[in-house]
Amino acid sequence: MSLSSMSMLMPSVGIWEYFDFARVLMVKTAHFIDAIIAGLQNFQSHNPDLVATTTSPHFLAVAVGLISCLLVAPIPEAATIEVLFGWGILNFVYLGTLVMTQVDNSIIIEYWLLPNLTYLATCITLTLIRRLFISPLRKFPGPASASYSNYWMAKELSAGTFSKTVRELHRKHNAPVIRTGPNEVSVNDAEAIVKIYSGKYQRGSFYEAGKLRGHAAIRETRSNYHHTIWRRIWDKAFTPGELKHYAAQTENATSKLVNSLKKKSGEELDCTKVMDEFALDLASQLTYGEDAGIQDGTGDETYLDSIKKYLSWLAFYATLRNIPELLSYTRDPAVLTSYCAKSESLLINRQRNHPDSHDITSHLLEEDEESRRKFQIPLQLAANTNLSILMGTAVGVTLSQTFKSLSQQKPTQEKLYKELESHIKKGGDLSTESIKSLPYLTATINESLRLHNPFTTGVHAVIGEKGLDMGSYRLPAYTQVYVPTLTLMTDEKYFEKAEEFIPERWTDREEMVKDKRAYVPFGYGIHACAGRQLAINELKLVVARVVAGFEVESGDEEDTEWKDYGMVRVGEWKGRFKSRK
Ligand code: HEM
Repeated sequence: MSLSSMSMLMPSVGIWEYFDFARVLMVKTAHFIDAIIAGLQNFQSHNPDLVATTTSPHFLAVAVGLISCLLVAPIPEAATIEVLFGWGILNFVYLGTLVMTQVDNSIIIEYWLLPNLTYLATCITLTLIRRLFISPLRKFPGPASASYSNYWMAKELSAGTFSKTVRELHRKHNAPVIRTGPNEVSVNDAEAIVKIYSGKYQRGSFYEAGKLRGHAAIRETRSNYHHTIWRRIWDKAFTPGELKHYAAQTENATSKLVNSLKKKSGEELDCTKVMDEFALDLASQLTYGEDAGIQDGTGDETYLDSIKKYLSWLAFYATLRNIPELLSYTRDPAVLTSYCAKSESLLINRQRNHPDSHDITSHLLEEDEESRRKFQIPLQLAANTNLSILMGTAVGVTLSQTFKSLSQQKPTQEKLYKELESHIKKGGDLSTESIKSLPYLTATINESLRLHNPFTTGVHAVIGEKGLDMGSYRLPAYTQVYVPTLTLMTDEKYFEKAEEFIPERWTDREEMVKDKRAYVPFGYGIHACAGRQLAINELKLVVARVVAGFEVESGDEEDTEWKDYGMVRVGEWKGRFKSRK
């Protein structure tokens, strides 16, 4: 049985029930409108001039437009579908009533179609006026087009240029807050992190589009109730005992990588491809108990490409929140189904062929002891295991860029090699446990996570109903905010020589980290990375074994393509792994 057919067993509400409800409402409204029209006609016969303007259908449409804007405006998150549904049902009732009581089509056009257009024009005009001239966010600098539409942000995100553009804007305006959408601001302020992401903060609407086939994974859920339960389930997958189990698998996978690099010693390789494929196979191994067959060519070679296409698609639609809300009622687009299908087929294969496998999925299948709840719907489980794969590929993004930095900074690479060599000479080995406290290796990974982090856009949140006072600026209630990680972690205010790769800032040059609060590679608060320690272990192990075994050389000095679609994807860079023995 496929995952989608299993989900069809879920009860659903028939759309016809709404129409039936509307029909009853229509009959009642018809009587009511009849009475009003009769009253108006009576009033009109006594006050012809006044009535000519005030009972004009257009005048009423403007008044209704004004009232609905006032009602919806203080709630920036009014659900699109609810607003459209309310508008649709009222129109349906009103139109039905007119059709039942009027035979002349010109009256229907005059009293229904044209006032509706006036209504929409009023709402659009008022919304633009509010966004441009009344919104309290208007005092923050930012691109003019971003203040009236989310399209600016959607375009930047889907082009993969968003994080760098936001950084430029913060630098250009020398401002902690930049307006990047009608109700959206970027806050580059280390002090704001604790205040924005403390407690059970509300996630931003950005995550709504991250639902896969209608189901959110832990990172995308905006429900604190679900998140609390799901996080307990996820955390069981990363206890110290489980991390040891994954460490053994990571060591095996890394040994295979090292052997394969030895065979290609000195050859020019696309290092990004090497690391991306390794990370995807490892993520699949840890999540489903079996690698995805990407490195040995037995798996789906389009998998990595489908991730990139999905991320770019998601970046666009997640920002235009109203569209994904509507899209969720239509068939999933090909880019989404193709992306989901890859991970789902690995999950189905696991469930069919080795259901007792000891892996991350085995924990996600467990019940939460406190609430006795679990991921019951197959698609909910699939969304979460898919997230595990996506997060696993994030490790590849950091690895690829780290090796590029090391290839360009020979002294740093040699210093790291010397530390590893001396560790081995002292009887140490290159296992996860043995290398975990090596200071220069730890510093190198810290620096990689700062400069080569895969999540540079920042975590989206909503300011609470009281607003947030930061002293020199105030974020109004219900504003959508994010702390732009790339801007923050490369800000001279917080890190000296902020754009340079200097591991020493984490060892004997501590003064180069001016404010540790700005170092948030794994996020902050309740949604901070659940797989943090796993990711660190993987990064340390791969970097240690590759640097101990090879000299990493860069074959091209040009900048590597770097795109941030909410998660970074790196383009090809040519390099060589020259065996040291
Ligand atoms: C270089 C590697 C990684 C980095 C830098 C990283 C960073 C992050 C960040 C910044 C978040 C918060 C995102 C947000 O709130 O929108 C996050 C969430 C998460 N990460 Fe990671 N991550 C990495 C690897 C991993 C790995 C290997 C796993 C294991 C499966 C993992 C599992 C998760 C999960 C489950 C969440 C969602 C947590 C929640 O919402 O409560 N991550 N990660």
